[in-house]
Amino acid sequence: MASVEFDISLVEPGQRVTIKWRGKPVFIVRRSEQMIAQAREDDDSPALIDPVADSERAPRPEWLVLVGVCTHLGCIPLGQQDGDPRGPHDGWFCPCHGSIYDVSGRVRKGPAPRNLEVPPYSFTADNRIIIG
Ligand code: FES
Repeated sequence: MASVEFDISLVEPGQRVTIKWRGKPVFIVRRSEQMIAQAREDDDSPALIDPVADSERAPRPEWLVLVGVCTHLGCIPLGQQDGDPRGPHDGWFCPCHGSIYDVSGRVRKGPAPRNLEVPPYSFTADNRIIIG
């Protein structure tokens, strides 16, 4: 199946869900105001390895959509929680070789060379998203 549709109305602010698209995990995050502010604040951070503005990755800032495949060797990153000493919080940590992605899915610590990929997607109505 080329595309997959998902009802986002049940996703709460701050919550992450994982769906499958073309055999890969896709992370859908409904970002809180705090998460959006953090992502925007980090746009100019020198710690970005693959610098891209958050607004280019999440045109509707409340919704972040990512292919959940590490850009190093393809492991599935794990979501980070508040207080994780590996930081930054609300991003992802790859358990295979330790890459870290931020709240916009941008790589902050290698060996991953690139940000988590943003798949093609669109919103068909207020509560539905189509990936692919
Ligand atoms: Fe993720 Fe190597 S596969 S850090």
